[in-house]
Amino acid sequence: NTFQYILTSIEGPLAHIQLNRPNVLNALNRQMVTEILTAMEKFDRSPDVHVILLSGAGRAFAAGADIDEMATVNSTDLELLNQFTDWDRIAWIKKPIIGVVHGFALGGAFELALCCDLLWAADDAEFGFPEVNLGIMPGAGGTQRLTKLVGKTKAMEWLFTGARITAKEAAQFGIVNKLVSKEVLMEEVIKYALTLAKQPPISIRYIKEAVLKAVDHSLYEGMQFERKNFSLLFSTEDQKEGMKAFIEKRKPDFRGK
Ligand code: HXC
Repeated sequence: NTFQYILTSIEGPLAHIQLNRPNVLNALNRQMVTEILTAMEKFDRSPDVHVILLSGAGRAFAAGADIDEMATVNSTDLELLNQFTDWDRIAWIKKPIIGVVHGFALGGAFELALCCDLLWAADDAEFGFPEVNLGIMPGAGGTQRLTKLVGKTKAMEWLFTGARITAKEAAQFGIVNKLVSKEVLMEEVIKYALTLAKQPPISIRYIKEAVLKAVDHSLYEGMQFERKNFSLLFSTEDQKEGMKAFIEKRKPDFRGK
């Protein structure tokens, strides 16, 4: 492990990134964010990895950006740091990312969770954007991704007050895919991720890409994009295998080619 603020591991087709500054509830400093992206990009290019898991060590997913680090910067520092390019890189990860949240996912950590493709949470999870109470606002996509996900009404309410969103509420609003008790969260996520890892990887890639298109393009543009990806899948061996297996009434064996 060459990283200072995260732990990484690979087990079979699953890669795991764990935020690891538990003494400050995994507060995201800039180096941690860079490390997360470096690890994600490495796993994205590893042929054996099919799914990336992202979780937090200790009692929380993470309590947001590192306030100690932010307290002394001014606008020009922020402009010159250009730190959000790291966040833009998350959108370019092609493999599915599952966020695994327990405890707090606040501020930048909620933004990180919203960058994941699927979100599983423990029943003790609490989400929220407390930035307003520090006299700032979200800067890594929070106002945009939350609004696109739950609509303007709740986004305004939550962002204006910094209110905590319970795990149950997050599930009701479609922020979270699945709620699981804290004790078995990781075990259940791994089981699920292993089934996802058996799906044809190139289909999964193109589906992810097409769904993300729908989030910020017109229906027309999205449909053109979907169509191209649909056609492209007909040059894969997995398409031949999937259809052959159906006709032969057996289970397909996908190879990611
Ligand atoms: C730096 C933090 C931190 C943070 C917690 N800690 N959150 N340090 N940045 N975001 C530190 C505390 O100072 C404390 O250190 C230790 O972690 C444990 O935290 P406690 O506060 O003692 O725990 P608890 O009483 O359980 O309260 C948990 C909490 C609270 C409610 C989550 O820590 C909290 O309000 N944290 C800040 C949440 C926040 O405002 N996040 C948004 C940041 S702005 P010591 O040394 O005292 O033990 C943001 C902008 C994103 O995210 C912009 C894009 C990147």
